[in-house]
Amino acid sequence: MEGSELDVARLNMFLRTADRVYIVLKEFPSYTFDDIYDNVYEFPWEDYMQPDSEVLVDGKCVKSTIFAISATQKVVKKAIMNRLSDKYKTKNLSESGERFRVYFSNVNDKFSLMLNTSGPGLHKRGYRDYVAKAPIKETLASAMLMLSDFYYDKTFVDPFCGSGTFVIEAANIALNIAPGKYRSFDYTGWSFFGKTAYKSALTEAMDKERDYKLDFYGSDIDGKAINLAERHAENAGLTGKIKFFKKDIKDFDFTEPFGTIVTNPPYGERLMDKENVTGLYKTLGKVYSKLDNWSLFLITSADGFERAFGRRADKNRKVFNSDLECRIYEYFRKEKYFRNGKKGENND
Ligand SMILES: C[S@@+](CC[C@H](N)C(=O)[O-])C[C@H]1O[C@@H](n2cnc3c(N)ncnc32)[C@H](O)[C@@H]1O
Repeated sequence: MEGSELDVARLNMFLRTADRVYIVLKEFPSYTFDDIYDNVYEFPWEDYMQPDSEVLVDGKCVKSTIFAISATQKVVKKAIMNRLSDKYKTKNLSESGERFRVYFSNVNDKFSLMLNTSGPGLHKRGYRDYVAKAPIKETLASAMLMLSDFYYDKTFVDPFCGSGTFVIEAANIALNIAPGKYRSFDYTGWSFFGKTAYKSALTEAMDKERDYKLDFYGSDIDGKAINLAERHAENAGLTGKIKFFKKDIKDFDFTEPFGTIVTNPPYGERLMDKENVTGLYKTLGKVYSKLDNWSLFLITSADGFERAFGRRADKNRKVFNSDLECRIYEYFRKEKYFRNGKKGENND
């Protein structure tokens, strides 16, 4: 894929579910460390980096003759530093300047050399500064929300909200707030990279925001989690737009039709034992069965979820939450919601 500096800025600003945005610098076959050293050395690093640039190297080796990741990291770094030293005619490479994260992917003896334009993963939106128990990654939460059919002008609830991730991400989608609005990116610190791209992407992001009166709620049995969720909502500029309150799932009392639940309850792995989790899923099943035309999207690693919940999901899909194999169980509303003859606005 080819792209401009503005594309780099826009991808970083707007992608809700991507991990990082990389620029591929060079690809070559790699059967020996010499192949790697020579090819990396040949790349004109001096066009991008200064003699004092900080160079961090990371990567992966999969199904390749060279499979030692840390040895490969060292070879890549040595080749870059030697090139900078030769071209700038200095041995003084202090690494106190602009930061570059170089990423390599050595798969089936094909070596791709990349520059990480994002810096830390894009799940780090900038609003979640303290972490509650077993939080879900913002990117996975967003992916589940985008799979779901929640309406922007109907009730949305996460009844196991913890630090508030689903409700905040849902509000950001509904209000079209860019996920990159509150964070920084490595590319903005590079002197070779134009200074206007970030500003253009941010201006575009602000122009695209829209206003909805949201009925979006998060509840949790743990009062400390609620305090945290409120703090995160404030960091995300959503105070007054979404609401959090302390409540046990057994007391769930929303009654209006066409709502949506997207949630990440305890799995019976870390937060609760398996017996209690079965009881919790049973309670949730009872709560859901009484709701009028609601959808439910739930992620868990627990094997017997559907049995405890009391109903087979309309659809389920396998997904990894960190290294835990999970399923997303999807229960669809029976009828769609129409407003003035038009289908309600959502992610359908
Ligand atoms: C896996 S965590 C949710 C994490 C959240 N998605 C986040 O990103 O921070 C599950 C949450 O369920 C809450 N919980 C456990 N039992 C509950 C109950 N009976 N009613 C409501 N919440 C409960 C826990 O306090 C915990 O915050």
